[in-house]
Amino acid sequence: MNLILLGAPGAGKGTQAELLSKKLSIPAISTGNMLREATANGTELGIRVKKIMDEGSLVPDDVILDIVEQRVSQPDCARGYILDGVPRTLAQARSLLERGIAIDHVISIEIDDAVIEGRMTGRRICSKCGSTYHIAANPPKREGVCDACGGELYIRKDDAVETVRHRLQVYHEQTEILKDFYGQLGLLRLVEGNQPIEDANKAILRVLGVQA
Ligand code: AP5
Ligand code: MG
Repeated sequence: MNLILLGAPGAGKGTQAELLSKKLSIPAISTGNMLREATANGTELGIRVKKIMDEGSLVPDDVILDIVEQRVSQPDCARGYILDGVPRTLAQARSLLERGIAIDHVISIEIDDAVIEGRMTGRRICSKCGSTYHIAANPPKREGVCDACGGELYIRKDDAVETVRHRLQVYHEQTEILKDFYGQLGLLRLVEGNQPIEDANKAILRVLGVQA
């Protein structure tokens, strides 16, 4: 099963991708996580994209497409994959098709802009394994420490309020149109994102026809 999770910043793409990955035993591929890892490691790619990510703008399409094409060709993607945060522009969506990167379902996690600020200011990320928490909605058992691996939790630089506003604007200007694109291909399913994490997860499994 090859899935795309679409949605605004903070919609819950990463959270749901982690849950679906465990449930369906297929990898979650987050371009945001891959790029953050590159910046943390100071690789050539990381140095190239750091400023763009910190200000909440989009990394050039060709950079993203090369990373994704390389990743989905790995053996662990043979049974399927979950794309989290990609595609993000019409050019990326068209290019996935041209490169033969197949998609079966596109889930758009729907959420009002008004909810997003609270999600972002409360988000905490594991510096070791990338797991996502929220101080109120999904807190770790020990403050500041990842349940899964014991890693230290940090706040993403692009979760600053002004940057979140810019990311939302970028979403509305460049990404939201993908709902039309995939709707016309008959692949789009909408899921309510403004409900508890477990309920949103059940709603996604329902549209995929998978037993919760
Ligand atoms: P990326 O990392 O993809 O960020 P994003 O799309 O802005 O989305 P987020 O990760 O902020 O939100 P999410 O939907 O994953 O929400 P989460 O589950 O964490 O991209 C970062 C940057 O990388 C971009 O700005 C760009 O520069 C670059 N980039 C990446 N991909 C690119 C591409 N394809 N093209 C170009 N550039 C690209 O949830 C948010 C918080 O809410 C968490 O704390 C979570 O615990 C909580 N939460 C989740 N669900 C719920 C719920 N149902 N109820 C209550 N709280 C919830
Ligand atoms: Mg994410």
